[in-house]
Amino acid sequence: MQDILKELEDRRAEARLGGGQRRIDSQHKKGKLTARERLDVLLDEGSFEEYDMYKTHRCTDFGMADTKISGDGVVTGWGTINGRPTYVFSQDFTVFGGSLSETHAEKICKIMDLALQNGVPVIGLNDSGGARIQEGVASLGGYAEVFYRNVQASGVIPQISVIMGPCAGGAVYSPAMTDYIFMVKDTSYMFVTGPDVVKTVTNEVVTAEELGGASTHTKKSSVADGAFENDLEALLEIRRLFDFLPLSNEAEVPMLETNDPADRVEMSLDTIVPENPNQPYDMHEVIQKIADEGDFFEIQKDHAGNIICGYMRLNGSTVGVVANQPMVLAGCLDIDSAKKAGRFVRYCNAFNIPILTLVDVPGFLPGTVQEYGGIIKHGAKLLFAYAEATVPKVTVIVRKAYGGAYDVMASKHIRSDVNYAWPTAEIAVMGAKGATEILYREDLDNPTKIAERTKEYEDRFANPFIAAQRGFIDEVIMPHSTRRRVGRAFDLLKTKKVSSVPKKNDNIPL
Ligand code: HXC
Repeated sequence: MQDILKELEDRRAEARLGGGQRRIDSQHKKGKLTARERLDVLLDEGSFEEYDMYKTHRCTDFGMADTKISGDGVVTGWGTINGRPTYVFSQDFTVFGGSLSETHAEKICKIMDLALQNGVPVIGLNDSGGARIQEGVASLGGYAEVFYRNVQASGVIPQISVIMGPCAGGAVYSPAMTDYIFMVKDTSYMFVTGPDVVKTVTNEVVTAEELGGASTHTKKSSVADGAFENDLEALLEIRRLFDFLPLSNEAEVPMLETNDPADRVEMSLDTIVPENPNQPYDMHEVIQKIADEGDFFEIQKDHAGNIICGYMRLNGSTVGVVANQPMVLAGCLDIDSAKKAGRFVRYCNAFNIPILTLVDVPGFLPGTVQEYGGIIKHGAKLLFAYAEATVPKVTVIVRKAYGGAYDVMASKHIRSDVNYAWPTAEIAVMGAKGATEILYREDLDNPTKIAERTKEYEDRFANPFIAAQRGFIDEVIMPHSTRRRVGRAFDLLKTKKVSSVPKKNDNIPL
């Protein structure tokens, strides 16, 4: 009996060594953790249950029959994060460069199937040289099996990808179909074709970092939702994000006990909006002052800074936040911000996360760059997303709500449930000066007259009461009471029920 137990221990030890000490050392030298060390950080201590530890590839080409390594380059199973379960896979770069073989893919597919069946999220830690070159089409088939499952799981269970090394070729498309992609600065990159192919085809000379590093994907392409300094920080932040998300589209939004009083008043909010309507202020400050314990997890913070998206808690319960940021492009909506927020709103809706919208928007960004880029179609994405969202929606107009952007930003008309405005709100078709210059074109060469007319327009429209008289605003609230008012609104909306028109799928302007 002792021999049998010993054999199990030996087999486990061998599998845990992956591609061997030399390759583990090389991984560490690059500043990276190994696949197993990463899981140790991500999951609660002692919670990891591993599956398929002894699985090996079936390839016999290119001398592969003699090079089988237990686990075949990916560690799979499930564990818990602060007590809540998640399935995980962690690619082991020390084994054939973490490349994906047919059996490697089977291991990932197994936990994805279980995750979907049990209504539990999947977190993938990616560190891979892509398709296992020795296996050819068997590997490509393996990828496609993963892709198919990504789509089946979309909107049913949260799927989170962390890119912690190379991720190239078609391999990028599995992360691309998950809900969130996070990268590690300097050690991870993603691209469809690498720098060498780019040079051959387009003659462009570019480094891997420039082409697909964390900075490129968080700032320029917006493929990634965030980047972290190193493996450790990335994994700890994923734990933080995980705590905000429900386990599935049928699970309750998670609750985290808080000592922050629901009726806490924030007097500083009464003076946060400057006297001068053209002067910016930081909307992050408003968000933090409303949130439980000021805790806010921001998504895509380095991209389209004119809109802020992320998660807070109110009375312990997760709320998705979408807020215009007057400090960037005066808070205008443009192509990037509409795409960013549209995707976020749809995610919240899919997972029953209520949405708080904080509005300070002077309109859509004008110009040829925007029009040629398709602002009509991209702006419509956000409008569409809000209008189709059936989760509880609460809107607070903080300052400007002009033109079409007023309609888009979770207005009453597209079925926001509760619409508040601060006394500083200005709800109008456009800014007073622009409006006056159109209405009184004949007075354009008379600045005094224009100033008078502008003042008249401001007095009439630069307030929330015209909209409140029509019931488009449910109440004008004191800024200092926003946390209490919004929290109470969401509490009552917990039992919200609306039915949607049956359809196969909608046709959001992609
Ligand atoms: C098999 C691979 C591999 C692969 C790396 N290795 N990539 N084995 N298939 N795709 C092995 C190496 O042979 C080496 O083995 C070990 O992993 C580490 O690789 P190194 O090259 O020494 O590491 P490094 O210098 O850090 O470079 C990493 C790398 C490079 C940039 C990822 O290995 C590389 O360019 N690999 C090929 C990438 C690629 O073209 N993949 C196919 C993409 S197309 P030893 O034994 O020496 O440790 C694709 C299509 C998917 O993925 C389509 C889905 C639809």
